[in-house]
Amino acid sequence: MNSAILEIDDIVLNINGKNLLNHLSMEFWEGQIHAVIGPNGAGKSTLASTIMGLSGYTNFLGDIRFKGNSIKNLSVSQRAALGITLAWQEPARYEGLLVKKFIIAGAKDKSEKRARKALSTVGLNPDLYINRKVDKTLSGGERKRIELASILAMEPELVIMDEPDSGIDVEALSRIFDTLKILKNRGSTVILITHSTEVLKHAEHGFLICHGQLLSKGSIVKLQALFGTKCIPCSHKNQPDEESVYEYE
Ligand SMILES: Nc1ncnc2c1ncn2[C@@H]1O[C@H](COP(=O)(O)OP(=O)(O)O)[C@@H](O)[C@H]1O
Ligand SMILES: [Mg+2]
Repeated sequence: MNSAILEIDDIVLNINGKNLLNHLSMEFWEGQIHAVIGPNGAGKSTLASTIMGLSGYTNFLGDIRFKGNSIKNLSVSQRAALGITLAWQEPARYEGLLVKKFIIAGAKDKSEKRARKALSTVGLNPDLYINRKVDKTLSGGERKRIELASILAMEPELVIMDEPDSGIDVEALSRIFDTLKILKNRGSTVILITHSTEVLKHAEHGFLICHGQLLSKGSIVKLQALFGTKCIPCSHKNQPDEESVYEYE
């Protein structure tokens, strides 16, 4: 049995009187690809922000442990230094930065060679892209690939991808799958937040959440079936699936 690299321990995150995460407990196993699925508004991005420690998501009950140690009181950059990274749906905050700077921003090896290698891996010719800017002149698919290159250069211990398939073409999607393979081979742990059944196929197991609560966990096949019947359309009356919650396949 692999050990848990990340443990979410009975988190209650209340914002404006609403429990966005409601007694949520999960464990993510080292070196594996996990999916987090659930309907819109389930709390998936909130979970990602809470794991990363983003502003507004740090005041909660319960604990988050990385490799057995609480990270609850660590800043975003301290968490990043531990090797935890979050790939945002839209990296707009990097607007205007040179591609090479963007790629090596979070990398241990900050050489141009490293940035070039990462670009080649995601199928972009380094000579054509290294000195471009991350701006509107790049297509959505190119931006996504450059973002994947930055994740590869980071060599993260744990990477959370929040809907990596949103707004991209088939070619970029296949690069995401290649990237997942590379990350897995390097021993990174992946948390894949997604709606896409195509993307789900690449996860080894997953969690189904709704209203900030864990409904079920286990095999992707089981979760997909539940997602179709128990969760959509959301009755707002879902109860945790007791059997699944305590049994990890
Ligand atoms: N900072 C915040 N302040 C208030 N409400 C929030 C905040 N962040 C998320 N929410 C609410 O939490 C719920 C879950 O949102 P989110 O985590 O983005 O859902 P998902 O990613 O599963 O679609 C939504 O109702 C959203 O409006
Ligand atoms: Mg979301």
